[in-house]
Amino acid sequence: MSSAPPHRVAVIGGDGIGPEVTAAALEVIRAAGVEIETTPFDLGAARYLRDGFVLDDQTLEELRGFDSILLGAVGPAIGDTRIPGGVLERGLLLKMRFGLDLYINYRPFRGVEGSIGEGCEFAIVRENTEGPYAGEGGVLRHGTPHEVATQGSVNTRFGVERCVRYAFERAVRLSRPRLTLVHKTNVLTFAGELWSRVVREVGVEYPHVEVDYNHVDAACIYLVEDPQRYGVIVTDNLFGDILSDLAGAVSGGIGFAASANLNPQRTGASLFEPVHGAAHDIVGTGRANPLAAVSSAALMLEHLGEDEAAARIARAVQDFNGDVAKLGTAGVIQELLERL
Ligand code: IPM
Ligand code: MN
Repeated sequence: MSSAPPHRVAVIGGDGIGPEVTAAALEVIRAAGVEIETTPFDLGAARYLRDGFVLDDQTLEELRGFDSILLGAVGPAIGDTRIPGGVLERGLLLKMRFGLDLYINYRPFRGVEGSIGEGCEFAIVRENTEGPYAGEGGVLRHGTPHEVATQGSVNTRFGVERCVRYAFERAVRLSRPRLTLVHKTNVLTFAGELWSRVVREVGVEYPHVEVDYNHVDAACIYLVEDPQRYGVIVTDNLFGDILSDLAGAVSGGIGFAASANLNPQRTGASLFEPVHGAAHDIVGTGRANPLAAVSSAALMLEHLGEDEAAARIARAVQDFNGDVAKLGTAGVIQELLERL
């Protein structure tokens, strides 16, 4: 298209349907005319089971140097107990999020036709490097009747503020700028007060953004009964994890939900991945829904400055009204390519 050098993209297809939806997303990117140069990274459950490798510091540094990372899904099949919980989550996904300082997890949702959230359009801005995910805590007297397990939630002024600022920047671009802080300030009073105060203080700089607050339990009800009320939701790492699965279900299914793990300062490559998992039960059947991966690719192109192609792909996904179950992966991609 242009004479600009191709974007260098690290591709982690991963496990299960991960490689299938990633290949589909790359096909759409290329059809949109964007030049990319891909480098595959063999990481995930299959790799771990083969040779015990998860992610070392050298590979992490290699990943940092790319323009972006596209990830399909990682994880073993449900019921496969060969990999202890946490090995891949902490050793691979969270190691990349923390190590590359991907402090924003941006997850946009649009209620597809026939979903209970039909017509809704909002985004969750999830803090992605702190909270209970930070790993504070430990175990004492393991396995004894006096065992103690603690798991703290880390909330730094710095971490909360940069997340809240990003959320306001997203909110201010909406046709009706609004931002809702979701937390549990009535019980988690220490962290809750910090989050509320930061939203209040940063909000002064955004007088045109309507600011609201919901307790997380109430937000679960509103998300199901009245998702139209939301513009941008800003919340901590764990609440954001849970709410984004609920938001995915409400807006048509997790097969549509995209996510961007962002380092807005660009001190490391940002990572783009569908919210869904590896779905080993349908691997190889051609039935995987590629729309979440394609939408994640559109978010990636936006991050790479390919705004026009990103918008075209996002529009094609938006206008898609076929039956994913009937069309299958290849059929969905075919329809998207025709719309590009
Ligand atoms: C997600 C996933 C991850 C998370 C897991 C796999 C570590 O559920 O991206 O939402 O909890 O963040
Ligand atoms: Mn999750």
